[in-house]
Amino acid sequence: MHRTSLLNRVQQSPYCQPMPDLGDALALPCGRTLTNRLMKSALSEGLGTSTGAPTARLGRLYDAWAGGGYGLVVTGNVMVDPRHRGEPGNVAVEDERHLEGLTRWAKGFADSGTPLWMQVNHPGRQSNPLVGRHRPVAPSAVGANVPVAARPRELTDREIHEIVERFAVTAAVAEAAGFDGVQVHGAHGYLVTQFLSPLSNRRTDAWGGDPERRRRFVVEVVRAIRERVAPGFAVGIKLNSADFQRGGFSEEESRDVVAALVAEGIDLVEISGGTYEAPVMFGPDTRRASTREREAYFLEYAASVRAQAGAVPLAVTGGFRTRTAMAAAVADGECDVVGLGRPASAYPHVGRELVDGSRERIELPVVRVGAGRGLVGRVTTLHTVDSALDLSWHTDQLHRIGAGRAPDLDRPWWRTAVRATLRNGPGAFVPKRG
Ligand SMILES: Cc1cc2nc3c(=O)[nH]c(=O)nc-3n(C[C@H](O)[C@H](O)[C@H](O)COP(=O)(O)O)c2cc1C
Repeated sequence: MHRTSLLNRVQQSPYCQPMPDLGDALALPCGRTLTNRLMKSALSEGLGTSTGAPTARLGRLYDAWAGGGYGLVVTGNVMVDPRHRGEPGNVAVEDERHLEGLTRWAKGFADSGTPLWMQVNHPGRQSNPLVGRHRPVAPSAVGANVPVAARPRELTDREIHEIVERFAVTAAVAEAAGFDGVQVHGAHGYLVTQFLSPLSNRRTDAWGGDPERRRRFVVEVVRAIRERVAPGFAVGIKLNSADFQRGGFSEEESRDVVAALVAEGIDLVEISGGTYEAPVMFGPDTRRASTREREAYFLEYAASVRAQAGAVPLAVTGGFRTRTAMAAAVADGECDVVGLGRPASAYPHVGRELVDGSRERIELPVVRVGAGRGLVGRVTTLHTVDSALDLSWHTDQLHRIGAGRAPDLDRPWWRTAVRATLRNGPGAFVPKRG
């Protein structure tokens, strides 16, 4: 922790309040409380049935996390439309047909005392047409700049209103099933970010043309959810700080989105960044010395958005690997909550270990192809392939836990490559999830 910034904070505080600790509870604007400052961030499980229903394997995975000592657990992305799913095994909720399974999922977790939020998502142009058997849709007919990405169809005004409604319906079903809140997926290149970015949103109607119209979609989604659920039900968002592409969604626009969502009654803003065209959410390309950065990738942006967030707490996810860095970020007021993605797949109980101080460092293997730069470079960048492989390796760990087995930290990358190809087909290393 930086001594001077700590000292400044103490001196600036009129009451000299003690600095927050990882183990401290956190009250949200809706009145609910997070039991501590560690959040298990969304990790797409891929453990639903072909019709999008939750399974017993999903329940087993959440049993492991129920004892994990987190202050908040967010599910992997749940699709608001089964025709548009990012990957095989996504849970999809468009009405109450899976209510029984969803209730089992939520109630099975409830005894832990940790709030459970459902992450709700529409993949837009990142949907996998082989899963939903529908052509991907997007704000504009602009394909993602990754190999074999299908060119999406442009949404009509009526369809956009219908998707907004779908988010509200999915949230209402989550509430009925016993979830404590929802988190809108507004990061990593999915539909919300496709509306926000001028690169993917070329519309000139009420949904595009300038930053205010580009953010209308996410504002309407949050507003529709808020209108449909009880005031005490939590509504959060995972938002990109930027999409890290020239001419794309900027940090300045992201700050304006936060201000707009605060006015809509958002409860928690989780900061991430990047898309599968520029997968910075999994870390910088460490092969390039110039991009080797500090442990958590988005802390500086988080500090810069404090003014817009006001009393709404901020979470930062991406790269946190030591207790010291997490505690410093929270004590220093850079963020209120620390999000953990990959660590929670390899160490399901890592929340508890960090809070009680029994773990200082989270060791994760570097999962890399490690060869063939020339060959890979012809179709995509090595960093992109490595990110997809890393993601699949962690998905394998989730599937092991769901099958009642322990994570296998020695799992070789090639085994993951074979499994991912069987699971997702030859496009497995074209990124499409997160
Ligand atoms: C297997 C896997 C699945 C993921 N699924 C999601 C998801 O469904 N929704 C989401 O917002 N982020 C998803 N992410 C991104 C993580 O939530 C997190 O932002 C990212 O892994 C960086 O945090 P970390 O360094 O703690 O892993 C996923 C990441 C992995 C590895």
